[in-house]
Amino acid sequence: MVGDYRSYLRKLPKVELHCHVEGTLRPATVVELAGKHSIRLPTTEVDQIYRYDTIYEFLEIYKTVNSTVIDRDDFARMAYETLEDGVRLGNLKYREMFFNPTLHTARGIPMATVMDGLVDGIRAAEHDLGVRCALIADVYRQDPPEVARRMVEEVLEHRRPELIGLGMDAAEAPDPPEKFVEAYRVAKAGGLRLTSHCAEDGPAKNVTTCLDLLGCERLDHGYHALEDPAVVARCIDQGVTFTVCPTSTAVVYGWPDLTTHPITRMIEAGMSVMLNSDDPTMFHTDIGNEYAEFCAQNDYPPGLVRRLVMQGVEAAWLDDSDKAAMRRAFEAEIDELDREFGI
Ligand code: ADE
Ligand code: ZN
Repeated sequence: MVGDYRSYLRKLPKVELHCHVEGTLRPATVVELAGKHSIRLPTTEVDQIYRYDTIYEFLEIYKTVNSTVIDRDDFARMAYETLEDGVRLGNLKYREMFFNPTLHTARGIPMATVMDGLVDGIRAAEHDLGVRCALIADVYRQDPPEVARRMVEEVLEHRRPELIGLGMDAAEAPDPPEKFVEAYRVAKAGGLRLTSHCAEDGPAKNVTTCLDLLGCERLDHGYHALEDPAVVARCIDQGVTFTVCPTSTAVVYGWPDLTTHPITRMIEAGMSVMLNSDDPTMFHTDIGNEYAEFCAQNDYPPGLVRRLVMQGVEAAWLDDSDKAAMRRAFEAEIDELDREFGI
């Protein structure tokens, strides 16, 4: 091998299917936006508030930092900067990116401002950097079901071509997926693709609920699926892809050793997984780092890593011809990198 394996891993072309735009704000941007809108933060050392021991603490800080994102330009900036970071740090080519509409509409920001701003940033990033991005609106699980359903109706009313799916996040244990059947029904009727965070801090049976009751096509996290062999077997059989996140879950669920993280067992069991950064700046990571650390620490050989990368392409909600073109472009770029690094 010529050069360092971690830099090879960073340079691989990547698809990311599990990244919350609200968890990507650069600390310097938070401070600038707070100044712009005269908002007092607990500290100007934002890096210092990006620290938590539980998902609940994390969600509190997530709300605090997002109170600085207010006008259309702020949303555009947030979307642009995270795509720029993905390209620079991890050779990101395509992302399907979550946003939490009610985190913003609940503080009086119009849905049109949120969606138009995000779309402005996405289009500018594609124009300047060549990276592509679509949007997935996320149900915030601690919202009441009727708020979630209304959110889906509203995003459909303000629909932009970039909006392709519905997801669901926030704390899973207290609010199980069956609470949101109606929101998912409306989304499906409106032509959205469906995913959900599940078996992250909830039981394996939430996987079954998300597949059967909500109609999810792929799933986010899924670590507790391992507790039920029948659920694992079904997901393998059905080809359900799990969008997994090594660093964020290492922090809030206490799996600090990436060599024993449940993701390693999902891969060993033959489940389809692909790697993601979740809330990159808030967990002091980036998509390049997720590949570099998770794959290098586990001594994953290039063939296995290539499979993880290509699972991202396969699980993306692109049409067939677009996906075929991306598949060819990724294979060619990885072949070229293999030659460059003597792999
Ligand atoms: N919202 C943003 N990031 C999240 C995560 N990692 N888990 C659950 N909800 C989230
Ligand atoms: Zn997430």
